[in-house]
Amino acid sequence: MADGKSPGFPEGFAWGAATASYQIEGGWNADGKGPSVWDVFSRRKGSIEHGDTGDISCDHYRLWETDLDIMKSIGLKAYRFSLSWPRIIPEGTGAVSEKGIGFYDRLVDGLLERGIEPWVTLFHWDYPYGLYLRGGWLNPDSSSWFADYTAVVADALSDRVANWITLNEPQCFIGLGHLTGEHAPGLRLGFDETLRVCHNVLLSHGKAVDTIRARAKIRPSTGVAPVGVVRMPASDKPATIEAARKSMFSVSSRDYWNHTWFGDPMLLGHYPEDGLRLFGDEMPAFPDSDLEQICRPLDFYGINLYFPEYIVEEDGTLNRWMGEGLKGSGNNFTGLGWPVKPEAIYWGLRFLHERYGLPMVVTENGLANPDWPGPDGRVHDPQRVDFLRRYLLEVRRAIADGTDVRGYFSWTLMDNFEWSLGYRPRFGLVHVDYKSGRRTLKDSAHWYSKVIGDNGDYLDTSYINFFKEKECVE
Ligand code: FCB
Repeated sequence: MADGKSPGFPEGFAWGAATASYQIEGGWNADGKGPSVWDVFSRRKGSIEHGDTGDISCDHYRLWETDLDIMKSIGLKAYRFSLSWPRIIPEGTGAVSEKGIGFYDRLVDGLLERGIEPWVTLFHWDYPYGLYLRGGWLNPDSSSWFADYTAVVADALSDRVANWITLNEPQCFIGLGHLTGEHAPGLRLGFDETLRVCHNVLLSHGKAVDTIRARAKIRPSTGVAPVGVVRMPASDKPATIEAARKSMFSVSSRDYWNHTWFGDPMLLGHYPEDGLRLFGDEMPAFPDSDLEQICRPLDFYGINLYFPEYIVEEDGTLNRWMGEGLKGSGNNFTGLGWPVKPEAIYWGLRFLHERYGLPMVVTENGLANPDWPGPDGRVHDPQRVDFLRRYLLEVRRAIADGTDVRGYFSWTLMDNFEWSLGYRPRFGLVHVDYKSGRRTLKDSAHWYSKVIGDNGDYLDTSYINFFKEKECVE
């Protein structure tokens, strides 16, 4: 119990941190790894700020044991990481690299030895370039390729890994990677073609779920980690809540920033009607059996949540809560100009739990902050402590109000390659000096340790007390 009245976090809550392969590993061509679309895209002039690449990044491919020790010192109960498909199967299909899969095999053992539960994401955007050359996600075989890759992974790791996430943020890698060209592979396809990409990605998800269940050696728990595109009510009035719920589960623009286009086929077995109407004959033809293949019962639904997209008024008016309009509005923003609005996580978790009826997991949440080591050699990041505390209090409120939440993964364990923004944003609990590779636990990491240590009750201690206690400067 957190305060004697409301329930706190449940027993066995997965207190974790998350990363993704391309963002931390480096070793881009080590031990026979094949190129990924990000290896190629990051070399394209003007695609990444400052010309940064993930070639070395945090050098986690070499320093993984140091990183595991850091996770243990923070007290993480769970670690969400993704696999680099071209590290495991250099061409994307065919020959498996023993060294590549061996890396993850050792990583999993290292986690378990330290009492940390592995949560494996099969796909966090690190797509084999060899498959891109064969049409990538547009190729009708793409979902079978993904299933074959999943089979290799399940055979190698499922004797020790129980928690699986099929896809990270299809909204992003389809929308930014295939429609607007801001992310790898940098395509600007016609909308009809991106709808085909989408369909193949959804099929890949369904086939991967089947593959994991068919081959898992220990009982698997399988879910997905979409973007938390949240529309939240401006007040607690029932009519406003209903307006927000309705808006959140609509497809109202020709892009992929919504939930239902992905979640409904995966869990309800059909594409949402409003989207089908909006996209009309741009929608590809497909047999009904595809929807059966896509729709697979899941064990949890993930949500990567940073800010709400819109605040919704009682009459359905949408106030955009992102972008230029808000700057100068007196609101609070992170280092990337993302608005700080902790209630978004409450509403996102609640609405999605209501819609799909699944246990929820916060698969990502965090902020970029301009952190640097001070003269004392420490990295003081009070904004991150405040941000995480406020968002976690809202997670706790969601639990108290009946939303089944099983885990929380802070994005991210350590500063890393933030896609097209390169190394400028620092999202980590741990500071990384990219020149020396040195890692320094930020104050927020010390604070998070305390939260994990008493299963969240420490959230009742104001963050100011944390700094007064000087725990962070011991
Ligand atoms: C999410 C991505 C993750 C990271 C955070 C900041 O969209 O899943 O890799 O870039 O944003």
